[in-house]
Amino acid sequence: MNPVCEPLRRLKDDTAALHLRAELHVRILDADATLTDYRDYLAAMLGYHAPLEDLLGAHDGLGAAGFDAPRRRRAPMLAADLCALSDDPREVPRCTALPAVTSLARALGVAYVLEGSTLGGRYILARLPPALAGLRGHATAFLTGHGPETGARWRDFAAIVARELNTPAAEAEAVAGARETFERLIDWLAPRTRAAGAALREAS
Ligand code: HEM
Repeated sequence: MNPVCEPLRRLKDDTAALHLRAELHVRILDADATLTDYRDYLAAMLGYHAPLEDLLGAHDGLGAAGFDAPRRRRAPMLAADLCALSDDPREVPRCTALPAVTSLARALGVAYVLEGSTLGGRYILARLPPALAGLRGHATAFLTGHGPETGARWRDFAAIVARELNTPAAEAEAVAGARETFERLIDWLAPRTRAAGAALREAS
């Protein structure tokens, strides 16, 4: 089994159902998505990313493991997108019910969710519905993320994960961190984004 891929594969498999649930709260790919939906999405994501990125940046073990938190931050991209739409990012409420960022393994599980979402961002950007497509290049810094560097940064992160999550216990701890990160995000997004109605009822 490829040692680089195994812990990441476990993170992906063990959070796949939660990813699907999170997607239901992101309505910006709906055919009828409006600018208001997009603003709500940016604000909700900023409210979650900003304080969580602060926690990751303050984690000594992550830095020592080679995770460059300041370079990986995407809250400033969300703030820039809101400014481009004439919204004030300083007025956006910040989430306080965050996942625990304790051990290095747990912190890597938390970071996995934020880092992995850079891959989905590109997918979303390419499929924005008509009312939002015109925002590309103007208010889509967050979805663009690290642009052409996205793949290389993901591979760097995968290498850290492979190096540090080298026991079953560490892997399990990381999965717990990743799962909690999705769960807290879903709790945060649910009242802040347009309800998915039937799709959500079906999933529950
Ligand atoms: C409409 C909403 C979303 C869509 C359509 C979407 C779509 C995708 C797609 C297509 C990928 C795979 C990309 C690739 O492998 O190149 C992906 C990966 C990922 N997304 Fe999302 N995503 C959405 C929302 C989210 C949210 C809100 C989060 C959490 C912040 C998230 C976290 C992740 C993670 C962690 C991965 C990496 C999975 C892995 O390969 O291990 N996604 N997403």
